[in-house]
Amino acid sequence: MNILIVGTGYVGTTTGLIFCEMGHKVTGLDLDEHKIRSLQEGNLYFYEPGLEELLKKHIQAQNIAFTNQTEKAIKENDVIFICVGTPKGTDGNADLTFVRKAAESIGQNINTYKVIVTKSTVPVGTVELVTGWIQSKQTAQIPFDVVSNPEFLREGSALQDALNPDRIVIGTESEAARTIMKELYKNFHCPIVETNPKASEMIKYASNSFLALKISYINELSRLCDELGINVNDVSQGIGLDPRIGPQFLRAGMGYGGSCFPKDVNALIQIANEKGRPMTILERVVKVNEEQPLYFIDKIKDALGGELKNKTIAVLGLAFKANTDDTRESPSITLIDRLLEEQANIKVHDPIVNLWPHQCRTVENTISGADAIVICTDWEEYKRINWGNLKPLMKQPYIFDGRNMLEKVQMENLGFYYIGIANY
Ligand code: UGA
Repeated sequence: MNILIVGTGYVGTTTGLIFCEMGHKVTGLDLDEHKIRSLQEGNLYFYEPGLEELLKKHIQAQNIAFTNQTEKAIKENDVIFICVGTPKGTDGNADLTFVRKAAESIGQNINTYKVIVTKSTVPVGTVELVTGWIQSKQTAQIPFDVVSNPEFLREGSALQDALNPDRIVIGTESEAARTIMKELYKNFHCPIVETNPKASEMIKYASNSFLALKISYINELSRLCDELGINVNDVSQGIGLDPRIGPQFLRAGMGYGGSCFPKDVNALIQIANEKGRPMTILERVVKVNEEQPLYFIDKIKDALGGELKNKTIAVLGLAFKANTDDTRESPSITLIDRLLEEQANIKVHDPIVNLWPHQCRTVENTISGADAIVICTDWEEYKRINWGNLKPLMKQPYIFDGRNMLEKVQMENLGFYYIGIANY
């Protein structure tokens, strides 16, 4: 099948390449010439492990091409995936400007029956809106169907997630569209949930919000564990072995960030409020998440004698999680802002992200002369550091582990004063 992907961000590019792997021909459409040129040359303009190799492979095999020519791209393809961004709007709702633009271009250029698929995370009812936007620009009555098919891949493991999904959700009322979608996904070995568009759209918001809820649950519990001197990691393990709870997304830390959880939880809260059925539980999830970095800073401050003014703090990690260069809603940024308010001197390191003025290139430089280290991102490289060798470079050997990635006893044996998130 000839597939068009509108929007070549990490969801669009990964989706396109996965379909190439499954034997389809794919075109990536983006209005940003710079992105198109980079992808045409086989260079990913964002960081996502393993994806660039696959991009080069399918460009070489002529399975994927990139263009900014909207009309031709729409006319030549039968299935169109909308993978454009849906950022958080000013009112908390998802901003559908880019989805609307894509839908209107499809309406203007549709020449044969097409299946239009919303892959971007969109509010309940968007399939209906997209249908209307397409119709509003049509000059002839050419039939089409709009399907909701949300994506569940994670940044940093996009390729593996997209190749091995837990489930595929297809939301449509059209038999013809459902048949085409099932044909597209026939080589994937996972359950397919067939439902209507609204339920499909809700599944995506409900999944992300539930995962965020698990994180806020363990984070709030970690504060109590701290009070009681209990290792929260043991608690996560102990409860996670119950299959009704499950072990994932129970890692206590500085809170969730990224382009998805904060935006999607807020959007669901907004939808619920609009319908007069508030999701108060999610309001608390957001609150706990906002509090978590501040809670950690208070611990840092207490340990350093109640004052951060003129203390040199080495911040390790800017990305919202490991294996990505994304800093959107990163707890690390919240922490840095707060440290600056407290007039601390900041030194910053990240293995991939380069954002901070005069950012240090090595961990050694970052921690030299520091009063304390704060680990904000769980980069594997921080685990492998020979901490014993680095300790003499510091002014004071304090280490605050916001991701519970180091062993307290081991660090104490090396002479560090170690504080994690209820990590004993
Ligand atoms: C999330 C979902 O996991 C994907 O299924 C979904 O497709 C995606 O959003 C999306 O809607 O596009 P992502 O934001 O890329 O994926 O990253 P996650 O791995 O889910 O991590 C989100 C945040 O939660 C990170 O800040 C991470 O550090 C934090 N987290 C995760 C924890 O604090 N504890 C955990 O146990 C797990």
